[in-house]
Amino acid sequence: MRVAVLGGGRSSEHDVSLASAESVRAGLVEGGHEPVEVLIERDGRWTHADEALALEPSRGLLGVDAVFPVLHGPFGEDGTVQGLLDLLDVPYVGAGVLASSLSMDKAVFKELMAAHGVPQGDYAVVRAGGAPTAFGPPAFVKPARLGSSVGISKAISEIELARAIEIAFEHDPVVVIERLVEGMEVECSVLGNGDPQASKPGEIVIKGSDWYDYEAKYTDGGMELVVPARTPHVEEVRRLAVEVFKIVGCAGMARVDFFVTEDGVLVNELNTIPGFTATSVYAKLWDASGVPYAELLDRLLRLALERHADERRYRH
Ligand SMILES: Nc1ncnc2c1ncn2[C@@H]1O[C@H](COP(=O)(O)OP(=O)(O)O)[C@@H](O)[C@H]1O
Ligand SMILES: [Mg+2]
Repeated sequence: MRVAVLGGGRSSEHDVSLASAESVRAGLVEGGHEPVEVLIERDGRWTHADEALALEPSRGLLGVDAVFPVLHGPFGEDGTVQGLLDLLDVPYVGAGVLASSLSMDKAVFKELMAAHGVPQGDYAVVRAGGAPTAFGPPAFVKPARLGSSVGISKAISEIELARAIEIAFEHDPVVVIERLVEGMEVECSVLGNGDPQASKPGEIVIKGSDWYDYEAKYTDGGMELVVPARTPHVEEVRRLAVEVFKIVGCAGMARVDFFVTEDGVLVNELNTIPGFTATSVYAKLWDASGVPYAELLDRLLRLALERHADERRYRH
């Protein structure tokens, strides 16, 4: 297959995306596919072979069979690019518009999980100009729609909490405040469309940082992945990962992240386009579960084609 690999993007995760896109292109070659590099510049322009791309609705993209958007954060993982790919009418890897955008929005995601009785920590949603919250420390404060821990603070005191809320509001008009959860961070990779499968869960052991902040995520040696996670709740994590994937209506792939506490398993978040180098958690968990990187890419492409064909069966 000829596969357009979209890398870069307008979010602060531009460089992270470029690293993932490079790995994806190498893995596609290994699997006998032909990658076509598409760079999304920081200002949002799409280029191929140093030429600006002209996009025409319903005319596909550069004649490829499928697109792999390897983009993280706003303008990439949040449904915007997925909507554009739908308009171009080209199969693409991963979740569609709604699943992407609702997973990107931590407030909406939490409300959906609550509606389905999925276990999660206590939280409150605050809106710019809205009523203040009585939610107190210790807490984690997050802008609703970012990733890579950007704009997130841990607040132990009332003063820290007030400052954390200010910081989060610099990034988003909606802020989520969560009760600090003590426990192990566990992540689980999911693969599939209608009958998704869960990988072995992995345990995130953070080195040097107090929590899984930007440095811990992207500094070499900032974290260590232990597979399988050292918890008796492995099967519960896998069951919940598939359940959450289905509730959100994901397609292709997602990484579902958890806290495992003394009282049980809590869902934290779902990433529709997780980091995607061969040594990223998503791929490592599949590798440990018997699906090597090149095969993982191959399966994701097939799932993309399957979903695109499937959507055509419905009348509009
Ligand atoms: N309620 C919480 N209790 C304890 N730690 C938390 C909590 N929420 C977030 N964290 C820490 O912050 C990190 C980033 O939060 P997360 O919600 O996963 O945002 P992101 O989308 O940026 O990854 C988590 O991996 C964890 O280390
Ligand atoms: Mg996270």
